[in-house]
Amino acid sequence: MSSTHFETIKQVISHRRAIFPPSYTDRVISKELLTELLDCAHAAPTHKLTQPWRFIVFREKGLVRLADQLAARYQAHSSPEQFLQKKLESTRDKVLRSGAVVAIVVAYSGTVPQWEELAATSCAVQNLWLAASAAGIGGYWSSPDTIKHIGDFLELAAHEECLGFFYMGYHDEPPRGANRRPLAEKIRWEE
Ligand SMILES: Cc1cc2nc3c(=O)[nH]c(=O)nc-3n(C[C@H](O)[C@H](O)[C@H](O)COP(=O)(O)O)c2cc1C
Repeated sequence: MSSTHFETIKQVISHRRAIFPPSYTDRVISKELLTELLDCAHAAPTHKLTQPWRFIVFREKGLVRLADQLAARYQAHSSPEQFLQKKLESTRDKVLRSGAVVAIVVAYSGTVPQWEELAATSCAVQNLWLAASAAGIGGYWSSPDTIKHIGDFLELAAHEECLGFFYMGYHDEPPRGANRRPLAEKIRWEE
């Protein structure tokens, strides 16, 4: 691994941002590129090689079905006090503005603790996010309450759980820096 690789990966990591559907353009994300991006996700590390990540990819007419289902389930599971018509509409619009939406699913194997399966799946999502960003595609991980009520639509098995949706689209947003607290607050050196 050369120092050039290090410079490249630092750049890719620092340029990755959460990019939201209002900034997405109409440009189509090809199935071939999505497969390449998911192959990057699939390269994530995993204890005992359980490879617990599963991806359900919504594109084209699949996006319409997902938009309808997310909106219907938001409505069905919100109390009258919580329900907001604006939120219902934005739930649908977000999906319909996306080039693809990936349901992030973890399949618990029972071989390692569940937290390890969650950690491995999160590593896979980060790989997807970085690869998408490097390919010029914006994305963000969305984890609304509705994911608790979407299992039947996603046809999840009893040992599977939806961890959210990864929204994706080519976008026109200018680069922005990360909003983080100082690194020094997060490190204790023992020397
Ligand atoms: C596990 C996870 C769940 C997230 N869920 C949401 C969400 O439901 N809604 C949202 O707006 N952003 C969500 N995000 C994205 C964060 O808001 C975003 O990453 C954070 O603001 C930092 O911005 P950056 O990614 O551009 O550095 C989630 C991120 C992670 C890692």
